Amino acid sequence: MASGWTPSTLTPHEVGDGLAYHLALYHDGDLARPAGWHADSVRHLLEIALPHIKEGSLVVDYGAGTGGSAIELLKLLDAADISIQLVLIDPLVSWFSQAYNILNHRDDVHFELSIGKDAEGKTVFRELDDMLDGRKADVIISSSTLHLVPVRALPDLCRQFADSLNPGGALVWDSGDVESELRPATAACLHDPYRGVREHLRDDDARQALLAKLAAEDAIRAERRLDYIFPVPFGIEVVLEAIESAGFNSEVTDHVVGFDVEDAERFVLVPRLAEIAAPLIEGGQRDNAIREALSLVLARMQLEGTASEAEYRSHWVYGHHSLSK
Ligand SMILES: C[S@@+](CC[C@H](N)C(=O)[O-])C[C@H]1O[C@@H](n2cnc3c(N)ncnc32)[C@H](O)[C@@H]1O
Repeated sequence: MASGWTPSTLTPHEVGDGLAYHLALYHDGDLARPAGWHADSVRHLLEIALPHIKEGSLVVDYGAGTGGSAIELLKLLDAADISIQLVLIDPLVSWFSQAYNILNHRDDVHFELSIGKDAEGKTVFRELDDMLDGRKADVIISSSTLHLVPVRALPDLCRQFADSLNPGGALVWDSGDVESELRPATAACLHDPYRGVREHLRDDDARQALLAKLAAEDAIRAERRLDYIFPVPFGIEVVLEAIESAGFNSEVTDHVVGFDVEDAERFVLVPRLAEIAAPLIEGGQRDNAIREALSLVLARMQLEGTASEAEYRSHWVYGHHSLSK
């Protein structure tokens, strides 16, 4: 099956980053104790995907990260005594290595890093067909990932999904961070609190003092990079247009998922995500600035009606697609 991937030696920072995201999904890293928002959001995706999965199916998890969606899928399949071949795909070495550590002991789980180098040495995304070695999947799931794919890349990615599915196969995805008319006024987009933190800290004195030490163009570039960590959400129609133009039909459902305040703090303090407060130096100063900003943002969300004292409400959409005949 394709090239296979094994992690190379990671820096301590990369190891810490992958572990922190895993701990944001699983309390104390215990696979039996998923954070409520993770368990609830992915449960709906799996309910849609499971009827398409049979003994021996080839299933792809596109954007597998630290393994959160795959772990929950395998729990259900193991309980039902259904064995499949599961290919996990992700571009981020720090998070994907964590998935590898957790799941590599299983011979039914395979890993493909989705980035590589082209002939000129430029980093590029690999084709799905190449990662699957020409095999066709029965189901492709993609959990909490498509909102991170640049709009210009979505049509080609969806074309690749269509080309790599068996006739009768299904594409099932979810996202808590796309805009849609389905979203009730009492729920926010998943990353709204963290975009709020970014905005709150944009003009922070300590941050601005550090930015002022950079050359002007470096400061602009650095700020632009931080704005991409939690990009402004696009509308669901952008994803659906890309999916349907690749020949799929669509069913969309939605669900509101409570995101516990402590889980939100753990989430945004994952080193890769906490970079929204850079160039504040990683550690106490940066973490405290983020904590303080998050509590102000969540207090505002309570006034706006999208949060309570215990949690904020995130709105998730679920896409269920098969190839039109
Ligand atoms: C929020 S994580 C979701 C991980 C996992 N599916 C889960 O439910 O826990 C999103 C993943 O998308 C990956 N990702 C980010 N940008 C991407 C892109 N342009 N194309 C494909 N994957 C991307 C990230 O590396 C990350 O692991």
